[in-house]
Order: sequence, then structure tokens, then C-alpha cells
Amino acid sequence: MTISNKFICGARLALASFAIFLGAVPAQAASNSVALTPPMGWNSWNHFAEKIDDATVRAQADAMVSSGMRDAGYIYVNIDDTWEGERDAQGVIHSNAKFPDMKALADYVHSKGLKLGIYSSPGDKTCAGFAGSLDHEEQDAKTYAAWGIDYLKYDLCSLGEKMEHAEPMVARKIMRDAYVKMRDAIAKTGRPIVYSLCQYGYDSVWHWGAEVGGNAWRTTGDITDNYSRMAEIGFGQAGLSKFAGPGHWNDPDMLEVGNGGMKPEEYRTHISLWAMLAAPLLAGNDLTAMSKETIAMLTNKDIIAIDQDKAGKQADRVVAEGELEIWSKPMADGSTIIGLFNRHDVYNEIVVDFHKLGFKKPVRAHDVWANQDLGKLPMDAHFLIGGHDVILLKVMR
Ligand code: GLA
Repeated sequence: MTISNKFICGARLALASFAIFLGAVPAQAASNSVALTPPMGWNSWNHFAEKIDDATVRAQADAMVSSGMRDAGYIYVNIDDTWEGERDAQGVIHSNAKFPDMKALADYVHSKGLKLGIYSSPGDKTCAGFAGSLDHEEQDAKTYAAWGIDYLKYDLCSLGEKMEHAEPMVARKIMRDAYVKMRDAIAKTGRPIVYSLCQYGYDSVWHWGAEVGGNAWRTTGDITDNYSRMAEIGFGQAGLSKFAGPGHWNDPDMLEVGNGGMKPEEYRTHISLWAMLAAPLLAGNDLTAMSKETIAMLTNKDIIAIDQDKAGKQADRVVAEGELEIWSKPMADGSTIIGLFNRHDVYNEIVVDFHKLGFKKPVRAHDVWANQDLGKLPMDAHFLIGGHDVILLKVMR
């Protein structure tokens, strides 16, 4: 991430007074009929960063199948930054020595019933300093399609440096035009490719991410494998629900479940929140070395069903009481998922006032993680929740 806070603050101020002149980006919602539910899969960055290569990706694909993750819905195997090699005399991008044959890798991943994702930048360099797609957008999209790529994460990186020295209105145009350019390049290939914008949420991307073709857009900077950063990002999604829906999702970054930096209840909070947010579920751990608990958490079918619900509604925060939060997500079957989150590091009591949540009479509830029917609850139900833990209730009206 290269863009400075100074740029962002300056841009925000100036943009407020020029709002009336917007609309340069042609309105076109993401419509390539992919990502009708939030994308699920794996991404190399959180665990492997630059230590990713062909053999590792194949091993992850194998583990995605043998662990049961594929059958639970995890389909995309996404290579992040550092696969890029040199361009040849014609400008065609080649993978570097870590990835000797990208087409063969895609064939392998496809043979497992999975899909392959790749990464680039609208700038001339990626965040890790490898070749970006600037001025080669059509050529690169064509190459990806020829390899059999199914997902592109397009990360602002060095384009941010150009924006930093531009007037705010110019900067925003540079950024949006760059995303439109790759959208059109992908469309021209005719291949259905999930288009994932990554620019850390600048310029309230949720307002325009779908217009520039995004099937998902990162709403924040990078996640790290600890509770405080995960919570800052996850709970920070409050208010963004109206921008998400089938084909276009808010993306609070990849999962850290199984990477070791959080306690089980903290990872439970992480995946519960992401599922309620209808966020992409991209595992970010080493799938070849998972504990039984990690596999159980990632493949919990009730949690996945919450994330993948056909209605595609992102949860709203309905109560914030100090460190206690209640979130609510309407489901296609008429039920509601109510998430009770204790952000404090010691246990706390949360009182759910069902009147306040819009319920007229007592409801029957199912505790999702405990897989237990709780019967009819009183209109003010009390729950004791451990530190950094969560209770998910499925309630029928
Ligand atoms: C940025 C992105 C990360 C990752 C790295 C790769 O920081 O936000 O998710 O893709 O670049 O360099």
C-alpha cells in the first residue's frame, strides 16, 4: 500500500465540494454473472506472501479437495503477488521461474474441480515491486484468459503514487479509469472472470465499485493475524450493507483462520462476522497443515450457508453498547441471523431486546455454533458470552 494519508485526507476534503461534477464513469453494474454469492476459496498472500510457487499452489489445491473444503464451497485457488516475470519484446507478460507453466497449473487446478485466480496492478509495479498491467491491460487480460484464469485481484499499488501528485478530481479519475480499463479488457476476452478491486477502500469505493465492474472491492487496508486488527476491520464494516448484493460484494480482506495468531474464539468471531457480512471467504492459511478444529471451522456448513445465502444481504449493526455489539442479517428463507459479539477480553452479559430488533412476539431460536435449539426465547433474552467470543442465533419470525 503506497498511497499516503495526506493524499487521502486532501482528496476527501476537496471531493466533498466537487461532488456535483461526478459521473464520469459510465454506469455499469458488475454483470458478468459470476460471484452471485460471495466468492469462496483460498489466497496465497496471508500465509505464504512471496514464498509461493507452482508446487505450493498445487498442494493447496490438493488439500482443498482432501480436507473437504471444495465440497463445502471453496472453489477459487488464488495466486497473489510475486508470480510475475518479464514482458517479452511484444509486451506479453510471462510468469517467473516460480511458475514455469501457468496454463498447465490452471489445467491442474481445473482438473480438481477448482478455479484459478491471479493478481495484478493497474500501476506499472505491483505492491511487491513486480510487473503491473499499466498500458498492457488488454494484452494481460488476453493472456490470463488464454491461461484459463477465473479470478483477478487488481491491486492499486504504484498507481497510487501517480494519484498522490495529482489534484483530487484528477486522482480519482486516474483510479476509476484504470479499473474501468481492466473491466473492459476482461469483458473483451469473453471469459467469465471474477473482478476483485483492491484499493483499500479509498474514495468510498463501495459507492462506485460496481460501476467500474467490481464483483468485490476491498473496503479496508490489509488484515493481520491478530484480534485487534481483525476486529477493527470487521466491525468497521457497519453501515456498508446497502452497497453489497449478488455479483458485487464488500470485501474486508482475506481470512486468517488457522494461521495461529488468534485464539479459537477469536477465529470464531472472525469467520462469524465475515459470514454475516456476506464477505468473500478466502482462506489465508496453509491448507496442507490444518488442525481438525481449523477444518471444522472453515467447513462449518451453517456458517457457510449464512455467508452464501441467496438473498445476498449484508448484516447491519443494530446495537452497539460499548464493547458489545449485536448484528442482524435477513436470510432468504425469512429467518434472521442475530450475531452477539463481545469485543471485551473477559466475559460479558448481552441482553437482546427483541422488541428493539423489530420482533413483535417471542421467537424460537437456534444456537448456530452450539447446534442447539433454544426453544422460544423471552422478549429480553440474556446471554453470557466469553471474552472476544460470539453467539450466532438463527431466529424465525
Ligand atoms: C497489498 C494487498 C494485499 C496483498 C499485497 C501483495 O498490500 O492489500 O492483500 O495483495 O498487496 O503485495
